[in-house]
Amino acid sequence: MEPEKTQNAKKVIFSAIQPSGTITLGNYLGALKNWIGLQDEYDCIYALADLHTITVRQEPAKFRRNALEAYALLLACGIDPQKSPFFVQSQVSEHAQLAWILNCYTQFGELQRMTQFKDKSQKHPDNINAGLFTYPSLMAADILLYQADLVPVGVDQKQHIELTRNIAERFNGLYGQTFKLPDGYIPKTGAKIMSLQDPTHKMSKSDENVNASIAVLDRPEDIMRKFKRAVTDSEACVRRAPGKDGVNNLMGIYTCVTGRTDEQIEAEFAGKGYGDFKAAVGEAVVEHLRPIHEKFDEYIKNKDYLEACYAQGAQKAEAIARKTLRKVMKKVGFLQQKF
Ligand code: TYM
Repeated sequence: MEPEKTQNAKKVIFSAIQPSGTITLGNYLGALKNWIGLQDEYDCIYALADLHTITVRQEPAKFRRNALEAYALLLACGIDPQKSPFFVQSQVSEHAQLAWILNCYTQFGELQRMTQFKDKSQKHPDNINAGLFTYPSLMAADILLYQADLVPVGVDQKQHIELTRNIAERFNGLYGQTFKLPDGYIPKTGAKIMSLQDPTHKMSKSDENVNASIAVLDRPEDIMRKFKRAVTDSEACVRRAPGKDGVNNLMGIYTCVTGRTDEQIEAEFAGKGYGDFKAAVGEAVVEHLRPIHEKFDEYIKNKDYLEACYAQGAQKAEAIARKTLRKVMKKVGFLQQKF
């Protein structure tokens, strides 16, 4: 669905990504690329959802490094921290506070139905912790603190946004208008980038097969190799059709990075084999990511700048988040804080 344009106040956009190691081409095309494009027209607020990341066990030094790299990478992708507050979730304590309150307005049955919870508990059977279960109430807190109108995400987060709306509606029903009901903003192309090795499954950073996913920071030669090995089919014809999951996925990726339509892609590769097609997709992705790599190399060397940026982002975010949290606490009936 396309966001509506308004004439008066700008609509508010909120979204976040977990700094859990590799940021994939799926994350980029499904979410980040959209985030960047929305910054002029909307009031955007973006975060690294590091509290969500510890629902899966992290090694402390690596976790810290991943978070800093993710911050630098998102700046390199084009987040402008002067326009769009960009902060680290764990540095704005209102997120954890509101999440606790919302936990008390979220039903066990609702959380049990979340497909991400089911998937992740299957993947980590030795660590099905309470945080993994209540993950969606923290995500609801993230969104509702900023009274977001729209949340740009990939398809896999749609269910969590629907739950956010349900929690907000329930709270508003009990206490009067408190939260704006957010809508997901899911791109027409790129909302679900599939694995290059099993195109019936989503591309995921936790895939054990290194050829299945592309990291935004992969070296050009690795990106080319992975695309050349991408699974297709035996028809040897570049066209979009049901059942041609591998080719459909590659066509979607090609559209995202070149802007070409299915018809243009089919015409471009008419009479050519998959070898040419896969190499062209690889090259287009490499070219698209090249300036991001260059900027990342600059940002990551400048730790002082990164620290100053996320400190400023947290201050700006907190000023907004505090207002919503205060309102919520007053409505629920907590004693008012006088200090
Ligand atoms: P995360 O970190 O798993 O993913 C970040 C964004 O990338 C999208 N995405 C994909 N899009 C297309 N194809 C794929 N293969 C693909 N894989 C991932 C995700 O949909 C997401 O938009 N819970 C969230 C982070 C979060 C959040 C929030 C998002 C925390 N609080 C509030 C929005 C609003 C997550 O784990 O995303």
